[in-house]
Amino acid sequence: MHVFRLRGNFETLDIYSAALFELGARGLEEKPGEVWAYFPERIELPFPGEWQELPDTDWLEAYKRDLQPVRAGPFVVLAPWHTWEGPEKPIVIEPGMAFGTGHHETTRMALETLAERVEPGMRVLDLGTGSGILAIGAALLGAEALGIDIDPAVIPQAIENARRNQVKVQFQVGSLDEAYDPLAETAPQAPPAQPAPTPLVQGPFDLVVANLYAELHTYFAQKYRELFGICGTLILTGILAEREGIVKSALEAAGFGLLARRQEGEWVCLTYAAR
Ligand SMILES: C[S@@+](CC[C@H](N)C(=O)[O-])C[C@H]1O[C@@H](n2cnc3c(N)ncnc32)[C@H](O)[C@@H]1O
Repeated sequence: MHVFRLRGNFETLDIYSAALFELGARGLEEKPGEVWAYFPERIELPFPGEWQELPDTDWLEAYKRDLQPVRAGPFVVLAPWHTWEGPEKPIVIEPGMAFGTGHHETTRMALETLAERVEPGMRVLDLGTGSGILAIGAALLGAEALGIDIDPAVIPQAIENARRNQVKVQFQVGSLDEAYDPLAETAPQAPPAQPAPTPLVQGPFDLVVANLYAELHTYFAQKYRELFGICGTLILTGILAEREGIVKSALEAAGFGLLARRQEGEWVCLTYAAR
């Protein structure tokens, strides 16, 4: 097996992941300070990084074998082959290409915070749903959940995960407007003047959770407010502590009041009240 090692993490290298898969990567794995992209053979890659040969073991099997159940608030996140005896509510997620197995600090914090805030019957939006884990968690707590993601590849995985957990969750491809990536070199300096003609997501929601990244939260700040009626709760994570300031300024300007903050490692999760 050949591995291409890139410096960074899933969050900072998110912009490369689709291209890596298109170029033949069989999987991505986050290591301390690096992301490893596994390829069946060496190819020319237009990214900064270096190749390394690995003994020909089945890395995916090894990865799956090492995967442990994760506790998060009232939940325990399990892979389909795990067994669990305990008071926690299981969420079964197939570890695949979609982000969201519960092992990342941001997913865990979002799931725990969500569980503290969700009440049965609430309308919940999970923006950037990935594996669907947060929407599924909300549905298991009795909410009516919608999960959306700009990556069409994750939606079938999220649907399958909801089926595994025997909950009804709606999933759709999309975002709050056209796919806008503030990190891309070609990104405009200001939000596009013309919003998408038809809103992809119809509010109001009682709770919105988004595990994205600081620049995107900043860009979406006003749009987040439009998702709520008179009030509601917004849970934001995927924020590196060093980027927290820009999110706070934008959210405050958009009329949100900070309710709670938590941090694990370098990652922050902010909970806001829409007001
Ligand atoms: C860090 S993952 C979060 C997955 C899952 N919600 C969790 O907490 O583990 C971010 C997800 O957001 C999606 N995403 C990135 N930019 C987006 C955007 N502008 N609108 C909607 N989804 C987006 C990515 O495709 C990815 O699946």
